[in-house]
Amino acid sequence: METIRALVVRESTPLPTVAVETLPTSTLYQRPLRVRVAYSTLNYKDGMVMRGQGRLVRTYPHVPGVDLVGQVLSDATGTYAPGDWIIATGFRIGELYWGGYAEEAFLEPAWAVRLPSSMTPRQAMGIGTAGLTAMLAIMALEHLSILPGSQAPLLVTGAAGGVGSIAIAIASRLGYIVAGSTGRDTETDYLTHLGASIVIPRSDLDSGPERPLESEHWLGCIDSVGGQTLARVLAQTKSNGAIASVGLAGGSSFTASVMPFLLRGVSIAGIDSVNAPLSAREIAWGRLADLLDPALLEEMITEINLEQLPTYAEKILAGQVRGRVVVALDTSL
Ligand SMILES: NC(=O)c1ccc[n+]([C@@H]2O[C@H](COP(=O)([O-])OP(=O)(O)OC[C@H]3O[C@@H](n4cnc5c(N)ncnc54)[C@H](OP(=O)(O)O)[C@@H]3O)[C@@H](O)[C@H]2O)c1
Repeated sequence: METIRALVVRESTPLPTVAVETLPTSTLYQRPLRVRVAYSTLNYKDGMVMRGQGRLVRTYPHVPGVDLVGQVLSDATGTYAPGDWIIATGFRIGELYWGGYAEEAFLEPAWAVRLPSSMTPRQAMGIGTAGLTAMLAIMALEHLSILPGSQAPLLVTGAAGGVGSIAIAIASRLGYIVAGSTGRDTETDYLTHLGASIVIPRSDLDSGPERPLESEHWLGCIDSVGGQTLARVLAQTKSNGAIASVGLAGGSSFTASVMPFLLRGVSIAGIDSVNAPLSAREIAWGRLADLLDPALLEEMITEINLEQLPTYAEKILAGQVRGRVVVALDTSL
């Protein structure tokens, strides 16, 4: 196509402008892998980019969208053939590089994985970076011997968000007893339906620990919230437990004691989906294809179009999005 529709962010004060524009394809930076985009998604980071937060974007105009799934139009490296389906996430797509909120994208082949044969493009974006991150977090916990079979629950914070929803669904499918913490008591039934056996209010955790070591509750945790929530979870994690630190929805800094490390052998594993190696991504996508119940995934999805993205950017930053938001670009593919 000679022109494409894209959501374009332009620098402006106090906030960037965000609008759907028609662009000549020649204005896109030419990389070897040219893809016709079927779907993208909305992640927390996309909300930050559209609202000009976190200095994630250095050059304007910019096309956000950290995730995309699409069909290969051409690949100058020969890695992919025209018609192949690929998923691209991370590698600073949608931050440093133009992303998935456009009808076409030009990528490096090393940024892509093949769409698993049992997964539809829409399901892949229902999962997106949030789901990939949830799977990487579980793989990190498994590596630290945090395994199903314990009577102690695996805690998921920010439970009704994207990472949280998928983490609950796959952890409960794997056999963990799952607890979710949420600031929205209206989502208790949703979280129970996804597989949480216990739902606790966010306020139980977000004021930080009362003592360096509190009563031991959690086998481990997948933490999307950070801040003093992470400090409190650390103080409540059982001996030899582990926390996968995923996000900062509640803050990026925390003050905590080293006692849980020294007297309980608790570990914290950092999760970075952006730079995760291709081998880990391929394993994670394969496991997500096997583990996630398509009907449950469908219940997590809200589908929107490019024009609705600015409104949803505000919603995700305000913690008002439930589950996953999929952005339809070309559903005829
Ligand atoms: N490390 C990585 O590679 C990676 C990858 C993806 C995402 N992330 C990060 O992980 C976090 C979650 O991402 P997401 O896509 O799941 O976002 P999301 O859909 O917005 O979910 C975040 C959830 O956190 C809770 N929350 C929101 N504001 C809060 C606050 N002030 N205090 C406590 N809890 C709050 C809300 O859940 P409840 O309403 O249920 O409480 C919200 O739904 C973000 O910080 C994101 O940047 C990191």
